[in-house]
Amino acid sequence: MDLAGKKIVLGLTGGIACYKAAEFTRALIKAGASVQVVMTAAATHFITPVTMQGLSGKTVFTDQWDARIGNNMPHIDLTRDADAIVIAPCSADFIFKLAHGACDDLLSTLCVARPATVPLLAAPAMNVEMWQNPATQRNLTQLQADGIQLLGPDAGEQACGEVGMGRMLEADQLLEEVIASFQPKLLKGKRVLVTAGPTFEPIDPVRGITNLSSGKMGYAVARAAYEAGAEVTLVSGPTALTTPYGVRRISIQTAQQMHDIVMAQMAAHGGTDIFVAVAAVADWRVANASSQKLKKNADGSAPQLVFEQNPDILATVAALPKAPYCVGFAAESENLLQYGEAKRIRKNVPLLVGNIGHDTFGKDDNQLVLFDAGGHTELARAGKQELARQLIAAIAARLGK
Ligand code: CTP
Repeated sequence: MDLAGKKIVLGLTGGIACYKAAEFTRALIKAGASVQVVMTAAATHFITPVTMQGLSGKTVFTDQWDARIGNNMPHIDLTRDADAIVIAPCSADFIFKLAHGACDDLLSTLCVARPATVPLLAAPAMNVEMWQNPATQRNLTQLQADGIQLLGPDAGEQACGEVGMGRMLEADQLLEEVIASFQPKLLKGKRVLVTAGPTFEPIDPVRGITNLSSGKMGYAVARAAYEAGAEVTLVSGPTALTTPYGVRRISIQTAQQMHDIVMAQMAAHGGTDIFVAVAAVADWRVANASSQKLKKNADGSAPQLVFEQNPDILATVAALPKAPYCVGFAAESENLLQYGEAKRIRKNVPLLVGNIGHDTFGKDDNQLVLFDAGGHTELARAGKQELARQLIAAIAARLGK
C-alpha cells in the first residue's frame, strides 16, 4: 500500500484520455489513497461524474457554486487536507489556465487557491500538433518554473489517428509517478546503473542454461533509484517484468553481453555514480555452443559441453580507476553472514547485500543483510520494493546524502 493514508484530489479536464482516469482512480485506491474527484465541464463530455463517483466512492464536484459544502467554498475546502493534486488528463487549455493563474471554474480556482505545501502534478494529454505548438510549450515552461510537476506525456498513436507526443501516460505509469513524487530525492542528479535478472547462456540456437532469478529485486532497485531522483539505466537479462516508468532498459541475454554493455555505459554520458549489481550472472558459458540445433546421437551418447568462465562484471567495474560506488548482491544457500562478508572483501566493494537465494528467487518479498566495512545490518522481511527503497536510503547515507 504505497499510498496508504494519502489524500489525492484528482482533477479531470476535457480530453479523450478521460477514459484512462477511471482506471487511474481504481489504481490510486488500490494503492491505499482516498480520491476526491473534481471535473471541469469539458471533462463531463468525455466521462460522467456518475462513473467517477462510483469508482472513487465520493461525491464528485464540477461546479464552483456547488452548495453541498458547508461554507459554499469548494475551491478552498477540497484541498485543505490534500497530500497532492493530480490533473489527469490535463488539456492544452488547462495548461494555459495554470500558466496564467486563471480562476474561471472550480478546478482552476482550486489549483490557484491550494496551500503552497500541496504539490500539483499534471499529466498532459493532447494531439501532437497541440503539444508542439509554441504557445503550449511556452505555457509548459511556465508550469515547470512554477514548480508544477509534469507526468509524461508519452509519444505514440493518438485517438485522432495521428502519431507523436501528447498521449497521456497509462494508469499504472501515472500511479508510479505519483508514488515516486512522495519519495525523498536522495539521489538527485546521480547516475545509477543496475543489472538485473538471470543471464541466458546458449547451448545451441534453441537451448540454453539459465537460473531462477526473476529480476524482481533488480527492477525494484532501479525503480527505487528513479523514485529517489536518479537517472537510471537497467541492464537486464530475460525477464517477464515491465520496465519501471522513467528507467532506461537495455536488454541482453548472455553474461558477456551484460559485461560489454555495462563497460560501455561506464564510459558513456560522463560516467556512472553508483553501480548496483543485482543480476544473477551465470558463472560459466558453454565454450563449444553449437551454431546448429544439436541432434540426438544414434548411439544414445549425450553431447559433451565444455564450460569457460564468464567475466566477473562487478569485480571488473570495482577495479576501474574511477570506479563508481559499487554495490554487490550475494545469493547464498547457507552461512550468509560468513560468506557475505568474505564476498564483499573478495569483490572489493564498499557495500554487499546478502540474501538466501532459494528463499527469494521469484518471490515478492525478501530479507536482506547489508555488509560494509563497519559490520552488518539486517533489513527485516518486507516487500522487494520497500526493501529496495531502504537499500537506496542506505546507499545515499553512505554517500553522505
Ligand atoms: N556478478 C557479476 N558478474 C559475474 C558474477 C557475479 O557481476 N560474472 C555479481 C552479481 O551480480 C552479484 C555478485 O557479483 O552482485 C555476487 O555474485 P555471486 O554469483 O553470488 O558470487 P560469485 O562471485 O559467483 O561467488 P560464489 O560462486 O562463491 O557464490
